[in-house]
Amino acid sequence: MGRAVCRRLVAEGAFVAVVDRNIDAARLVVKEAEDKMLAVAADVSVEADVERAVRLTAQRFGNVDIGINAAGIANGGIMPVQDMPLDRWRAVLGVNLDGIFFSIKHTSRQMIAQGTGGVIINVSSVNAIQPGGGMSAYCVSKSGVSMLTSIAALDLAQHGIRVVAIGPGVTDTAMTQPLIMGVPATLNAFLENIPVGRVCSPEEIASTILFLASEEASYHTGTTVFVDGGLLLRGYPKRPVAA
Ligand SMILES: NC(=O)c1ccc[n+]([C@@H]2O[C@H](COP(=O)([O-])OP(=O)(O)OC[C@H]3O[C@@H](n4cnc5c(N)ncnc54)[C@H](O)[C@@H]3O)[C@@H](O)[C@H]2O)c1
Repeated sequence: MGRAVCRRLVAEGAFVAVVDRNIDAARLVVKEAEDKMLAVAADVSVEADVERAVRLTAQRFGNVDIGINAAGIANGGIMPVQDMPLDRWRAVLGVNLDGIFFSIKHTSRQMIAQGTGGVIINVSSVNAIQPGGGMSAYCVSKSGVSMLTSIAALDLAQHGIRVVAIGPGVTDTAMTQPLIMGVPATLNAFLENIPVGRVCSPEEIASTILFLASEEASYHTGTTVFVDGGLLLRGYPKRPVAA
């Protein structure tokens, strides 16, 4: 998803820092437009890494006007809450929620110092409001992202900074390959509940993020915009998703 967003932003004329703990993956994206992009290695669950990534971005490009927080991990599969080990719970919360907290904190500080305002877009999920059996840590992390988005919007409006979240439904990415896309029974169960009859593409998510980042969305702040093909109208399938 992040790669599609980077490509779209560069095509629209933005300079983009690609921040990922997988530096090789980040470099591959940057190779597509090296004069306009910067690859930074960072584990978003580590505050010092996030602070450094924002600092390097500002050093290279001058200002930071848009922050997009898309790093995230799934549960590693379905696990009932009664079996969930604490370290697995914390790993998901650490990336999906701490990571977004650190990024909002350091990106907004940079924007406040610039005095230019800005926009921060957090990738939440339909799971912010749609529970999934066996997905406790992931769903809780995404509820947290959407609530944190609202709080940050309140705190940062006085600085001209908008904070919005996007809530994708099932999207064809590396994350969903082993859990949904590559498991026909699970994919079909989802498709029955998606009124538009197909999953989302990363490019469709990128389109919405581009809109939210633009002046066209100047009155959007504090809310989560769901991009789900209607999945939330029907909810998650009854049968458990991939094990
Ligand atoms: N794919 C979907 O159906 C779907 C649906 C709703 C929400 N989302 C959310 O979209 C976002 C992007 O997911 P995706 O589907 O593109 O998955 P993905 O696995 O393809 O991409 C996730 C990226 O995050 C990076 N990452 C993971 N942990 C990190 C860490 N600690 N520090 C820095 N980078 C880290 C990975 O290296 C990878 O490049 C996630 O927040 C995910 O929860 C995805």
